[in-house]
Formats: sequence, C-alpha cells, structure tokens
Amino acid sequence: MTTVRDEAPGVRAAPIPTWFGVGGGAERFARPSDSYALAELVRTEPAGVRVLGDGANLLVDDEGVTGLVVALDRLDSIEALDGATPAGTVRVRAGAGVKLPKLIGWAVRHGLAGIETIAGIPASMGGAVVMNAGGRFGEIADVVRSAQCIDANGDTRELPASELGFGYRTSAPVGLIVCSVEIELQRVEGRAHDELRARHRDVLTYKRETQPMGDRCAGCVFKNPLVDTERVSAGMLIDRAGCKGLEVGGARVSDRHANFVLVDPKRAQAAHIIELMRTVRARVAEAHAVVLEPEVVIWSERPDPLAPR
Ligand code: EPU
Repeated sequence: MTTVRDEAPGVRAAPIPTWFGVGGGAERFARPSDSYALAELVRTEPAGVRVLGDGANLLVDDEGVTGLVVALDRLDSIEALDGATPAGTVRVRAGAGVKLPKLIGWAVRHGLAGIETIAGIPASMGGAVVMNAGGRFGEIADVVRSAQCIDANGDTRELPASELGFGYRTSAPVGLIVCSVEIELQRVEGRAHDELRARHRDVLTYKRETQPMGDRCAGCVFKNPLVDTERVSAGMLIDRAGCKGLEVGGARVSDRHANFVLVDPKRAQAAHIIELMRTVRARVAEAHAVVLEPEVVIWSERPDPLAPR
C-alpha cells in the first residue's frame, strides 16, 4: 500500500524529516512500499517528484516545497545474491532506503569487506549513490556494480556502474530515481574478519575524533573544492578563514570540524543555516579566493536559495 497524504494546495504537511530538523513541509508526501508503487507514483506525476532518502544531506527551506515528495525509507531490504561472482566475492542488493550505517554493520558482521571504508557517513543507499558518498578512506563507487533506476516515465532500468558516471561527490543519473543498488564485497574469514572489524572501528574512531557525529547536524556542508588540480578540505579553508564558532540564530559552525553546521533544535530555522552558509562562503572567498559549492542539497521554491534575501 502506498500512503499519499494530500493537503489542500498551499497548505503544507508536517515538516519533511531531515537531520537538520528544520524547514517546512511538502505539499504532498508519499512513502511507497516497493519499487512498483514508486514507479506508479512517478507515472502519475508528470511534473516530477522530489526524492527523500535519509534526509542527511538535505536542507528544506522554511516555507517548504510544492508538489510531491516521495520518501524511500520503506525500500529497505538487504539481500545477498546467488549466482556466479568472481572468486571470494559476494554480491548484495540493497534497497535505496537502506541506511548506509545499517548496511555497513550487516556487511562487517557477515565478513563482507569493501564498504567499511565509508562508515560514519550519514546517508541512505540511494542518496549515497546519487552523491557518490565518500571520504578519506573510500567512496561508494568503489563497490557499486549496478543500480536499478526509474526514469521520468516510470520505466525501470538496470544501469551498470560504468553508466552511473561517478565523479567526486556526484553521479550522473539525472532525472532517474535509484530504487536499489547492487554492490560487490570481498568475503573474509578468520583473522581477515578480525581485521575487517578493526578497520571498521578505526574509520568510526577517526570520524568521532575529527567530526561532530550526532543527529542534529548533517554531513559536510560544502564540497572540497579543486584548487589547482587538487581537492582541498573545505573544512580546513573555513577554519583558516576564522569561521569556527560563527553563529547565525540557532545555527553554528562546529568547533571540531568547520565543514559541519550544528543546529540548536529550539531556535534554528532553515534561514539561519542558509545565512550561515552564505557568510562562510563569502569569508572563504575573501580569505582564499575560492568559491565553495554546497554539498548539502537545498529544497526551496526560490530559484537561488543562497542568494541574499
Ligand atoms: N581540517 C582543519 N580544520 C577543520 C577541518 C579539517 O584544519 O575544521 C584539516 C584536518 O586537520 C585535515 C584536513 O583538513 O588535515 C582534512 O580533514 P578531514 O580528514 O576531516 O577530511 P575533509 O576533507 O575535511 C572529507 C569528506 C568527509 C569525510 C572526511 C573523512 C568532503 C566534502 N568531506 O572531509 O565527508 O567524512 O573526508 O573521511 O568530501 C560528508 O560527505 O558528509 C563528509 C563529512
């Protein structure tokens, strides 16, 4: 069953759930139970839908958004696949709504290596593929074999990784909705399994020691920019521009890692986070002559939400 909650035009439903925990609602909201129901919704919505993953990298403007928002949290199955794979490997299919930490925990428990490198990054599998989630130790593109996607007509296609166009924090399925992902992991046993558990712990420890990890801040706010030919840490640039601790209303630049915004749930509004992002971007441009590009996706009815209001 698909639940579609309709509101009279102009009236917004409850806030869209995001890690920032701020922002408005959706004019209409649905949680399809499987990829068929999702495809049916897409077919009946010619103007297109907005897709909600785990809401970890998403900032919804205070006024909310028009149209239909589709949450994929019920596409949450994890399944090891039978069939021929290269020796020592196992293929796993995960629904777009599976949370990355849950899949990684499952893989580590079952002695399947390769995805522990991105532990601690907040995302759903669908969102992780669309943004090619990653960090210092790896990115999701390292393990993805293919993704099942739905196009704007509601038709389903399986795209191999080579057609997913992975790049730095991007992939190419523009206009496509990822509904499940097939990944290939290495089977490890005995001592190698202990080493896998230790690697998983080490990645999480690194994240805990260097970044604020909690549910009132999302992932990194800006992408690491290309300076000459190298990616440079946006957090380092923001830090060197003196922005740690900078506050707008209920939003504050983390003292631990400057590419994170901490939110005070009692006071924060989306407008505060947006204003803080604008200020940080201006200070970094002034200090380093580098224009930061947001990694956080902003849902807004404004054409350029980061433009001054
Ligand atoms: N640094 C500072 N000040 C700061 C933050 C960082 O000086 O406020 C320095 C660090 O000391 C280090 C360097 O900058 O020398 C790099 O820092 P870090 O290892 O934290 O990596 P990053 O490039 O800032 C990336 C990803 C993170 C991921 C980490 C670790 C992006 C935009 N960020 O950050 O991903 O967790 O590597 O793997 O790619 C995310 O995608 O949401 C995210 C947080």
